[in-house]
Amino acid sequence: MSAKAIEVINKAISENRRKLLEHESMALLEAYGIPLAPYVFIQDESEAHKADNIGYPVVAKVVSPDIVHKSDVGGVILGLNNWREVEQAVKTIKLNVKEKTGNARITGFLLQKMLPRGGVEVIVGGIRDPVFDAVIMFGLGGVFVEVFKDVSFRVTPVSINEAKEMIREIKSFTILQGYRGAPPVNIDSLAEIIVKASQLMSELREVSEMDINPVIAYPDGAYAVDARFLLNFKH
Ligand SMILES: Nc1ncnc2c1ncn2[C@@H]1O[C@H](COP(=O)(O)OP(=O)(O)OP(=O)(O)O)[C@@H](O)[C@H]1O
Ligand SMILES: [Mg+2]
Repeated sequence: MSAKAIEVINKAISENRRKLLEHESMALLEAYGIPLAPYVFIQDESEAHKADNIGYPVVAKVVSPDIVHKSDVGGVILGLNNWREVEQAVKTIKLNVKEKTGNARITGFLLQKMLPRGGVEVIVGGIRDPVFDAVIMFGLGGVFVEVFKDVSFRVTPVSINEAKEMIREIKSFTILQGYRGAPPVNIDSLAEIIVKASQLMSELREVSEMDINPVIAYPDGAYAVDARFLLNFKH
């Protein structure tokens, strides 16, 4: 088991936090070998220049123990092209969050490489069921999951072949195969992410819920850009 993963979980438990912070979620995915957009955590706008290390364009996101859906409170700003734009975006996010939530705490900001357009957004989820233990979910992002409930499930441990079945099983699979001239996305990369997510849920017993949303899939690979982890522990 990864020392980094244990450190992240123990820190959250010691602070009695049930939601992992954005950069902690990214560190967990990284610990399990799930590819992700390069990122850096900053405390405030004075560290905006750290985006230079990632390369532009970047995305700025609020990091808060109190906010579940960052976009809903103006906490995500895409397409920043230099450190001055990053600095401004961080200030704007602060104002947005204050206006929309009033008192949500802000721990800092996640700066992330902005992945190119043209990818397909998918979701890899996990829940801990009292009977089946960890169950992994796969579906396409947006309306496909929320409106059409077009998802597939497997009980962990999920093998690479089961992961490929999960992907092929959803009704919207044709979208992953390429439509209207779009190239097919890399199914093997997605299947590998599902297997790694299954390992994570099996090993990290305190994780009660996982929502990697979205993973952005391309013809040559797939990368996580957001993840929410909820913990369950007795204090
Ligand atoms: N690094 C990135 N590169 C490209 N697009 C991104 C990136 N990060 C976020 N996005 C886009 O912005 C959207 C919202 O980002 P994100 O999922 O981080 O915020 P969120 O509001 O917490 O989402 P949700 O509440 O739906 O889980 C993503 O679905 C994606 O379309
Ligand atoms: Mg999200």
